[in-house]
Amino acid sequence: MRSLLIVGLVCAMAAPLAMARAIPNPNQKHAPGNESPQTPIAQAHYSTAVNYQLQCAGCHLGDGEGSAANDTPRMKGFVGNFLKVDGGRQFLVRVPGMSQSALSNAQLAELINWIMREDGMAGKSMPANYQPYTEQEVAAIRHEAMLNLPSTRAGLISQMRAQGIVIDDGISKP
Ligand code: HEC
Repeated sequence: MRSLLIVGLVCAMAAPLAMARAIPNPNQKHAPGNESPQTPIAQAHYSTAVNYQLQCAGCHLGDGEGSAANDTPRMKGFVGNFLKVDGGRQFLVRVPGMSQSALSNAQLAELINWIMREDGMAGKSMPANYQPYTEQEVAAIRHEAMLNLPSTRAGLISQMRAQGIVIDDGISKP
């Protein structure tokens, strides 16, 4: 009787060890088609429009309409106005969504140039003599932190108002 009890106890103690396994299983195989490691977006050579969809559209929406409910400003028909005021050119690169994106400097320059088109998001807000951004320019300003974004942005918006520009960014009061 006693030895039966001991055998029972030993079995009860050994069972969890016998059933234990490493998680994740080191011998597990990748799902078919998923064998190679993910390519970082900066090396994936997607088109600029795809980069926008992957890195920006989640907040700014597919056409740059933005979302007032989420404090995301409208770029469509408005974003070009930043290039008409002092500091606006740098601001556009230094907003966190841009500067902290996973895109390379060259991809970011291409992306801003893609947004800043009369037949694109900026539309009629484009300044008369648009100077395209370059990889070097983005590299030089991207990593300068913007310490007070709301007041920097408010300063740019009031410069626009002083020029008589209508603030149609979807989030400011008229
Ligand atoms: C997590 C949400 C989010 C993502 C992702 C994001 N943004 Fe933004 N973006 C914002 C918000 C919110 C603002 C308003 C300023 C702020 O608070 O950063 C903004 C501001 C901007 C501005 C300045 C315009 C203005 O009116 O202030 C530009 C230009 C911009 N974003 C472009 C981009 C681009 C291009 C990408 C993708 C590479 C991107 N953003 C990704 C949320 C986002």
